[in-house]
Amino acid sequence: MKRHFIVIGLLAVLTANASLTAQTPVYLDDMQPIEARVRDALSRMTLEEKVRMSYAQSKFSSPGCPRLGIPELWMSDGPHGVRAEINWNDWGYAKWTNDSCTAFPALTCLAATWNPQLSARYGKAIGEEARYRKKDVLLGPGVNICRTPLNGRNFEYMGEDPYLASVMCVPYIQEIQKNGVAACVKHFALNNQEVWRGHIDVHLSDRALYEIYLPAFKAAVEQGGAWSIMGAYNKVRGTHATHNKLLNNDILKGEWKFDGCVITDWGAAHDTYEAAMYGLDIEMGSHTNGLTSESAFTYDDYYLGKAYLRMIKEGKIPMETVDEKASRVLRLIFRTAMNRHKPYGSMATEEHYQVAREVASEGIVLLKNKEDKNRKALLPLLPGQYKKILVVGDNATRRLTVGGGSSELKVKEEISPLEALKAVYGSSIDYAQGYTAGRPRYGKVDAVPKAKMDALRKEAVKKAAEADLIIYIGGLNKNHEQDCEAGDRITYALPFGQNELIEALLEVNKNLVMVLTSGNAVEMPWIKQVPAIVQSWYLGTMNGPALVDVLSGKVSPSGKLPFSYPVKLSDCPAIAMGKISYPGDSVRQEYREDILVGYRWYDTKKVKTLFPFGYGMSYTTFEYDKPSVSSKTMSVNDSIEITLKVRNTGSVPGKEVVQLYIGDEKCSLPRPLKELKGFRKVSLNPGEEKEVKFIVTSEALRFFDDKQHAWVAEPGKFKAYIAASAEDIRAVVPFVLK
Ligand code: BGC
Repeated sequence: MKRHFIVIGLLAVLTANASLTAQTPVYLDDMQPIEARVRDALSRMTLEEKVRMSYAQSKFSSPGCPRLGIPELWMSDGPHGVRAEINWNDWGYAKWTNDSCTAFPALTCLAATWNPQLSARYGKAIGEEARYRKKDVLLGPGVNICRTPLNGRNFEYMGEDPYLASVMCVPYIQEIQKNGVAACVKHFALNNQEVWRGHIDVHLSDRALYEIYLPAFKAAVEQGGAWSIMGAYNKVRGTHATHNKLLNNDILKGEWKFDGCVITDWGAAHDTYEAAMYGLDIEMGSHTNGLTSESAFTYDDYYLGKAYLRMIKEGKIPMETVDEKASRVLRLIFRTAMNRHKPYGSMATEEHYQVAREVASEGIVLLKNKEDKNRKALLPLLPGQYKKILVVGDNATRRLTVGGGSSELKVKEEISPLEALKAVYGSSIDYAQGYTAGRPRYGKVDAVPKAKMDALRKEAVKKAAEADLIIYIGGLNKNHEQDCEAGDRITYALPFGQNELIEALLEVNKNLVMVLTSGNAVEMPWIKQVPAIVQSWYLGTMNGPALVDVLSGKVSPSGKLPFSYPVKLSDCPAIAMGKISYPGDSVRQEYREDILVGYRWYDTKKVKTLFPFGYGMSYTTFEYDKPSVSSKTMSVNDSIEITLKVRNTGSVPGKEVVQLYIGDEKCSLPRPLKELKGFRKVSLNPGEEKEVKFIVTSEALRFFDDKQHAWVAEPGKFKAYIAASAEDIRAVVPFVLK
């Protein structure tokens, strides 16, 4: 039997390499190790050919080496769908008819599932779409930390916690790359706002850098094995991030031993010498803003173009840097474009829609669900329960896959909430838009005349007075200064007069389900009067069906917030520390809240939140048993096990995310009260019970000691918190590190 397989295996190899002969150069022979192929190709290339591989030849491709038959590298956004084809040499869409994709939920939603298995399925599906579209590099995932709820691109990222973002990005990357498509993890690093993104100079402590802003990138590289990474637009400690010695040479390629390519963000390079010396491998989009602006410069005018070649010839840049960059580009090409064993991929399949729908419905977070006198909660809404349901809000019909910047998608299908509600609740559904968001354009949104707004509000309020129930579907959208690239939000409040509209609706009808579509926390002045609140995200193709799965109870909500919701904007740590902290003085910025980002701040400073990190309700209830611990003491080289049972005590199936936080009782340096160090998502039928186990090693106890430049676990007392959110602690387990 075994021999049989060996023979088949051998035959397969022979067939795959049927075109190879004894004279085949090593670099073309995919039976040879990649490093041997890289060396061989390099030895055959001229200086000009090596240099030419390091910069773009079109908006989204870089050349290989045509003389040697080494193919181009084709890249595409990312991160939650494969973007429509862009013209060769301008930002316009190419108007192809074969490039409509599946829009998967934006990454905040994926993070809100707290389900790494779903992240793997997401990565596999999006990788298949990228592969089918013949892309070699998918520009995602985005793992920048959510530092303030104003950042226009938080919706593309995985929340405020480095551990959650790390765990969630790894399977996504691994599965994409199984398709022979490189993930390009972005934006490295400290691109935590869109205001002045091209030049703001971020200053922060080593502790904040290592403990908060780098771990997800490190996990992406070391555990995910990412083949490429995108250098951010901003500066870090005086130098642009995309050619930054500290970030690229010392940390990424030094400490983490990254062997892939650093690709600029589009237009992020600014200097030939720095680009040559400080770790940049492929330059894209130079002299443009990466989105809309064009340039009279040619590709050879890029910083790594003819200026680079000249400096090499003048001896101002050592030849090793050229070989180093070319080797990295070759390695990336061998892993992707020249990988003969990759699958063919697939596009917009039922299977991909199913993945999109599951991620979407598992990521939706139930924030509030008030019970009436008979202990009956408002949600779920059973079909036939209400005769007249009024749907209000622009996001009930708006195409939210359009806009937002480079993550915009051209979809084969997008089902709106209104369509999906009608499919389930039939003729009981009526609709009033209530407000309009105006027509979006980059850098500007056309204002809506007041008379039009008043008329829309009046119509909605009139219908609301006669309805049995209102489902409000609003929030933010992908317009400029909402959840959109190249600008931040200007206010924490809901835009487009929505707060006034909601108050007016509540005056005539209190039976209101609030569905917020956004990629960020928003202010909720009406929170006390609204009986049910659902946080929906940008859910993509299956937006409507996934939302209705949750509203109708087909799926019991199990999403948990990937970031905290401050009560008011001034509570947010970055903002509380003043303008120099956020957004900076237009030149420089100091991250003065330091390591106390998100719940680390609210916890430690005892600031009340609107909703805490890790929070989310279900249609069922869960009981946590008292945990048991394998030992009350541990040493640096061993671990302890914390075990507990979780039970579904309600009447419907559901999923619960059991969270483990660790707090250091006494430390030579300041530390947050507690930090997320583990979580498990468990699926339970009514009455069912499962055991959850956490293994705590000293890694979970460490902080970054900036004096020693090392991770340190200091002996002493610790607490393990078993929790259902950062503010819902179910048990505390004390232990000692000897
Ligand atoms: C964005 C990147 C994107 C690139 C290419 C830039 O504007 O910041 O995230 O991948 O454009 O579209």
